[in-house]
Amino acid sequence: MSEHNPFPDEGNTGHIWDDNLRELSNPPPNWWMMAWYASIAFIIGYVVIYPAIPMFDSYNKGDVVEGGVIQGGITKGVTGWTAIGEYKAALAEVEAVRKPYEDKIVAMSAKEILADEGLSTYVEHSGKVIFGDNCAACHGTGGAGNVGYPVLADDDWLYGGTIEQIQATITTGKKGMMTAHAATLSDAEIDTLANYVVGLSEGQSDEKGKALFQSKACFACHGMNAKGMAALGSANLTDGIWRFDEADKLASAKRTIAHGVNAPGNAETRNAEMPSFKDKLSEADIKKMAVYVYKFGGGK
Ligand code: HEC
Ligand code: HEC
Repeated sequence: MSEHNPFPDEGNTGHIWDDNLRELSNPPPNWWMMAWYASIAFIIGYVVIYPAIPMFDSYNKGDVVEGGVIQGGITKGVTGWTAIGEYKAALAEVEAVRKPYEDKIVAMSAKEILADEGLSTYVEHSGKVIFGDNCAACHGTGGAGNVGYPVLADDDWLYGGTIEQIQATITTGKKGMMTAHAATLSDAEIDTLANYVVGLSEGQSDEKGKALFQSKACFACHGMNAKGMAALGSANLTDGIWRFDEADKLASAKRTIAHGVNAPGNAETRNAEMPSFKDKLSEADIKKMAVYVYKFGGGK
């Protein structure tokens, strides 16, 4: 810094380095000042119009909103507008559109909803979220199924595909039971039975297998013709639909025959439980799910 100021008239601050490099005290440019005043005006305007500054009691009272007006806590703004108020108004608008449909769904049976074209289309669209939140994790998007979880989009039903039956399944849940046979059948018998049922589904017949099937009480649950019984949820074994380990049908059938389905105390048994939704979904939502599943295309 220099003692002597070689540029006395230019309004510098007197901070000069190397006799030449100096600090000036020019005012900021006009455009900059205008932007500065404009921001101040904006802030004042904002605080006047919108809810803005938290008060000391904000924390205690919270921003209690009734009818879109903040009851306490922060400066309220002259218009009374709040983000939550706007959100609630939009929500009320959507609900007003839905209400006539929702009221009808509460009052009608699932079968009537299905028969009403407008309503069933509404359910087809609005049911997607409920299905996604509650069912898709097991049954797959669009009811496409997963290994161990039945396809809902086909016309093959363990428990029956009428709209009433689907509704009952969702309401009460289901847990099919097949006894384990590892202790009562020899390996050779299990082999014969597995080959028999896989053959059946491919259109072959095998007298020895058939005799064994009928003498070993398989028929008691699956029926004489092995087509299954809806009351028990025992699978149709003739239709080529295998819902456990699809890839190797024979090995899969052997394991099911040996260890059963939901067989108590058997570590290798198939676990197959459809949870009950009686306490998780409203009756109206269960009806919606029945219609939604039916409309995948496989309803009967
Ligand atoms: C935790 C997994 C799981 C969830 C979640 C689940 N399911 Fe199931 N569901 C199953 C299993 C396993 C079965 C087969 C039960 C059996 O074999 O006895 C089944 C069976 C069914 C059936 C009967 C299929 C038939 O062939 O008869 C219907 C219908 C069904 N589920 C609908 C639904 C709907 C709708 C939801 C959602 C509201 C849902 N499921 C949620 C696991 C699940
Ligand atoms: C107590 C009733 C019961 C008896 C007895 C029974 N089953 Fe089952 N079986 C079922 C049920 C229930 C299922 C499970 C269906 C489901 O949840 O997909 C099943 C499933 C099966 C499956 C698997 C089907 C698939 O989709 O993968 C095969 C194979 C099978 N049984 C064969 C037999 C044979 C062979 C016998 C005789 C040794 C037999 N079952 C005896 C009730 C029974």
